[in-house]
Amino acid sequence: MKTALIKNLHRHVGEQVTVQGWVYNQRSSGKITFIILRDGSGLMQGVVVKQEVGEALFAEARKLTQESAVKVTGIVREEPRSVGGHEMQVTDMEIVSLAEEYPITHKEHGVDFLAEHRHLWIRTPRQAAVLRIRSEIEHALRNFFYERDFVLADAPIITPAACEGTTNLFEIDYHGEKGYLSQSGQLYNEANAMALGRIYCFGPTFRAEKSKTRRHLLEFWMIEAEMAYFDLDANMELQEEMIHYVIQRVLAKCTNELNVLERDVEKLKAIKLPFPRISYTDAVELLKQAGEDFTWGDDFGAPHETIISSHFNAPVFVHRYPTAIKAFYMKPDPNDANVVLGADLLAPEGYGEIIGGGQRIDDLALLEQRIAEHKLPQEAFEWYLDLRRYGSVPHSGFGLGLERTVAWLCGLEHIRETIPFPRMLHKMYP
Ligand code: 4AD
Ligand code: MG
Repeated sequence: MKTALIKNLHRHVGEQVTVQGWVYNQRSSGKITFIILRDGSGLMQGVVVKQEVGEALFAEARKLTQESAVKVTGIVREEPRSVGGHEMQVTDMEIVSLAEEYPITHKEHGVDFLAEHRHLWIRTPRQAAVLRIRSEIEHALRNFFYERDFVLADAPIITPAACEGTTNLFEIDYHGEKGYLSQSGQLYNEANAMALGRIYCFGPTFRAEKSKTRRHLLEFWMIEAEMAYFDLDANMELQEEMIHYVIQRVLAKCTNELNVLERDVEKLKAIKLPFPRISYTDAVELLKQAGEDFTWGDDFGAPHETIISSHFNAPVFVHRYPTAIKAFYMKPDPNDANVVLGADLLAPEGYGEIIGGGQRIDDLALLEQRIAEHKLPQEAFEWYLDLRRYGSVPHSGFGLGLERTVAWLCGLEHIRETIPFPRMLHKMYP
């Protein structure tokens, strides 16, 4: 028997196929049973009519509990009123396993309960839609770089030095030596870019964040690109092209999922190139105009980012931040050493920073000085300094936080729904 995915049922109208899945819901009258089946790709209604399938099979169908595993065979027909737009007239059925009483029912549950049952929560249509969109975004990002001749160069997870400051490092015991879980692949990206030109890495990164917010995870995925001979402007152009590319892909491929999430897609469709750009100094002016008591030199908090981005209906680049609040490797602006050639991309609708990036210091002496100023151990960075000793060139790169991007494109309140198993403060089960 031919098996089919629910999302592809439109290709099988009038045919007999088997769908392999789980019972999402079931209701029965004396003569007819409706099974809502999910298979990970969508929902489908199966109709079991006693007169057609006989007493025995009908009795089996009535036994089905929520989340029982089942293979259902039948004829596919169009049914606009039915979930997913198709229905199956069931002719045969095989129970693979009958589920015990399922903890997640169709009534509302508190978020703590759902988080404790994340391994089951991901089966619900809403969560599954988010995870499918996440997958599409990851594929789109990889395609984007592949089409532009970038080399995928994976960065290590275990590192001997900090990239993004020492306050949120996860320390590990590397057989007696101190090691850290990577906060960013950037430093290795820079080495790989000097070897391969244009590269990216895509992997998990770790930050021992000590605060609970709706934007922070302790383990998150970052796609990080690094390009030799790119300045800050070329860097921002690549980023906006990438974001635009991903949006078009999600709009084209994830209509059903966006629908399930009730995402206002008009807001995404309205985003055009190029994205607006504003300096940190001008952004501070916007905050003051909005009545905020903000001092030049301070870092933006989430509410500040929301105020700034509310002036635009596309993502906005905020560039040239104060040197003092940015990482040690950022290149100072030759026109004003108080600011660096870095840029963050703030998503619209209050989703905050989704990309951090910039141009890197390419001068050996200045980089050595910065490492000292930031009280970082120079021995651990000797290899990184070598990149400035042997054929140093202007270069730039960036890192996109995958989960924040998923939250924005899906229109989610909280980052915990953007990854199958989120790692949050004091939460690592399951
Ligand atoms: O701005 P960040 O710290 O930049 C870097 O790590 C650079 N070294 C990247 C580079 O240039 N190669 O982090 C980049 C992005 C942020 O814009 C944000 O989207 C995401 O990573 N991010 C987090 N996402 C979820 N939870 C956290 N705790 C995050 N911290 C950063
Ligand atoms: Mg940042």
